Amino acid sequence: MKPSNWLRPSTKHLRLTDRPVVGSAGMTLTSRRIVLGVTGGIAAYKAVDVCRRLVDAGAHVVPIMTEGANHFIGETTLSALASEKVQTSLWDETSPIPHTRLGQDNDLIVVAPATARLISAYAHGYSDDLLTATLIATRAPVVICPAMHTEMWEHPAVQDNLALLASRGVIIVPPGEGRLAGGDVGTGRLAEPSDIVAAIERALSANDDLAGVRVLVTAGGTREAIDPVRVITNRSSGKQGYAIAAEALSRGAKVTLVTTANLPAPAGADVINVVSAADMQAAVMPVADDHDVIVMAAAVADFRPASIADHKIKKDEFGADGERRIMLEPTHDFLVDLGQRKASGQVLVGFAAETDNVLDNARGKLARKNLDLIVANDVGADGVGFECDTNAVTILSASGDTTAIALTDKRAVAKAVLDAVVAIRSDR
Ligand code: CTP
Repeated sequence: MKPSNWLRPSTKHLRLTDRPVVGSAGMTLTSRRIVLGVTGGIAAYKAVDVCRRLVDAGAHVVPIMTEGANHFIGETTLSALASEKVQTSLWDETSPIPHTRLGQDNDLIVVAPATARLISAYAHGYSDDLLTATLIATRAPVVICPAMHTEMWEHPAVQDNLALLASRGVIIVPPGEGRLAGGDVGTGRLAEPSDIVAAIERALSANDDLAGVRVLVTAGGTREAIDPVRVITNRSSGKQGYAIAAEALSRGAKVTLVTTANLPAPAGADVINVVSAADMQAAVMPVADDHDVIVMAAAVADFRPASIADHKIKKDEFGADGERRIMLEPTHDFLVDLGQRKASGQVLVGFAAETDNVLDNARGKLARKNLDLIVANDVGADGVGFECDTNAVTILSASGDTTAIALTDKRAVAKAVLDAVVAIRSDR
């Protein structure tokens, strides 16, 4: 393959002369979670400028440095400018599998500068360090900014690897001409930070199909107090709701997250913490009409104790024969209210966690609650739904469409749910 062949026509919009394109209302980078990978090249110092520009534009920058990068810039410099401390190791004691979290939990990965080694490792799936493992673990757009000596840049191995990556949809920001390490002059100089940021903006705005759309997501299992110490709750972790909030943000939405879960909030979401079904109802109902899309991913309790003891109930209050009973009363199903008062154009999405007759039960709820979509999952199956990072769902629409999503990570499920929301909005 000739050195110039890898740059596919679809990547020609990344010409270095292009001006930055900013998405709707100039917010393309706001609240976007971007992993910035820095590898070992003399241009590593320019990564600091890329980082600063991204942070200034409102992005949340998560930096990863390879061992090689450490020879060129200090971790302290990048940690000080980024949104989080630099990460360097696959073997982090606080997070046993950091690359899967880093790979899944971001809107884009940019590697600047990318050495010939990084490009080769990524192209061939050789994931022996945190950055390459993160690249292999992501489904987000990836922007690679090569920088190396001219001879290396022109070597067919490098060009073939770049061609392979470009054929997989990886965005390549080609190097320019200029001074290289050691005083040489030629092609291989890292693209200017402003051009790298422009390429990132272009990549992100390509997926802005919820730009400016106001999305309310509920997440987690509600907790219903028995007394000041004890609660009745369910096994919902809130992770699916958080994945939907993060995915909506990454597609340009303005997100309100009403949650019972104590998870790190996706950057940019307006978070309202609640505990019980009544709290969630009180948080959701007054703001419901301000939202274009409502996704009720929360597992809201159907019953709660009819009265809450004002003191910790002592064992002996149950009597020797345990005759004291906790009386339950039904909670109010406020998704029914949301369905009844649905504003025109609003898209209402419910969840149905079932253990049997999954699709029939879900279809019943879809109709009864006047929903546009319902996401049904069989929570009796392994790896599905509650307390895990994966899910398998069937998305049913009021117009009769059925989309089955086989077991995958919750972010991929979130994408599918929001694709269905976007399809409904565009049909209207
Ligand atoms: N929901 C709600 N308020 C409630 C109970 C449920 O808003 N008090 C919402 C949930 O957030 C979910 C949907 O309704 O999006 C379906 O919840 P689910 O518990 O599966 O269904 P129910 O209608 O409660 O029926 P059942 O528990 O009998 O399966």
